[in-house]
Amino acid sequence: MTAAKRAPQPGAEDLTEHLRDRWSVSVFDADHEISETETRLLLEAARWAPSAGNSQPWSFLVLPRGSAGHETFVPHLSRGNSGWVPRASIVFVAVAQVGPGPDGKGPKWTGYSYYDLGQAAAHLTVQAASLGLSSHQFAGFDHDAVAAAFGVPDWWKVMTGIAVGRHGDPAQVDPRDAEREERERVRRPLAEVAYADKWGTPWA
Ligand SMILES: Cc1cc2nc3c(=O)[nH]c(=O)nc-3n(C[C@H](O)[C@H](O)[C@H](O)COP(=O)(O)O)c2cc1C
Repeated sequence: MTAAKRAPQPGAEDLTEHLRDRWSVSVFDADHEISETETRLLLEAARWAPSAGNSQPWSFLVLPRGSAGHETFVPHLSRGNSGWVPRASIVFVAVAQVGPGPDGKGPKWTGYSYYDLGQAAAHLTVQAASLGLSSHQFAGFDHDAVAAAFGVPDWWKVMTGIAVGRHGDPAQVDPRDAEREERERVRRPLAEVAYADKWGTPWA
C-alpha cells in the first residue's frame, strides 16, 4: 500500500496539497533522522497558530528517536502503539495549560486550551507534510506516567503524541503494524457535519 492509495480520498481531491495528501501512516522509516532545522520549523508552525486571546496554552516535549527523552517516553506507549511509534523520527508530546500556576499566572481563556492546542498540533502536521514528512497523532499511552516521568506540573495536561517521520516500507515491519495502513479511511458525510437554518438541517 502506498501513500498515493491512502490519499486523496473522495471529496478531498481539491483540498490544498498538504491537506489532500495527509493521512496517518503507521509505518515509519526507522533509519530516517529529522534535522534540528526541520524540528524547529515544526515547532514554529505550532507556535504561530492562533489561540483564544493569544493565550498560547501549549507546550511540547520534543523527543527525537535516540534521545534520552524518547527512551523515557517509549515504555509508556499502549501495546497497539508500541510497534509503530518508536520507528518515527521524532515524537512531540502535546501538553495544554489548563489552569494558572502557583503564581496565579496563566492563560485567561483556559476554556479554549484544548481547542488551541489541537489547532497548534494541526499546524505542526501540515508543516510536516510540506517538508515531505508524514505524521500520526496518538493518545494511546499512559498519560499520568508520562506526566510524572517528565515532571509536568499539575496545571498542565498531557494530551497526545505526534509521531513524525518518513513513510517506511510496510514489508519491513511486523505484519500487524503493516495491516494498520490497510484500514479504510472514512468520514461522516458532509450532510451530518454542516447544518443550515437549524441544527440537523443539512447545509446545501
Ligand atoms: C487525539 C487523537 C488520538 C489518536 N489516537 C490514536 C492512537 O492512540 N493510535 C492510533 O493508531 N491512532 C490514533 N489516532 C489517529 C486516528 O485514528 C486517525 O487520525 C483517524 O483514524 C483518521 O485517519 P487519518 O488521520 O489517516 O485521516 C489519533 C488521532 C487523534 C487526533
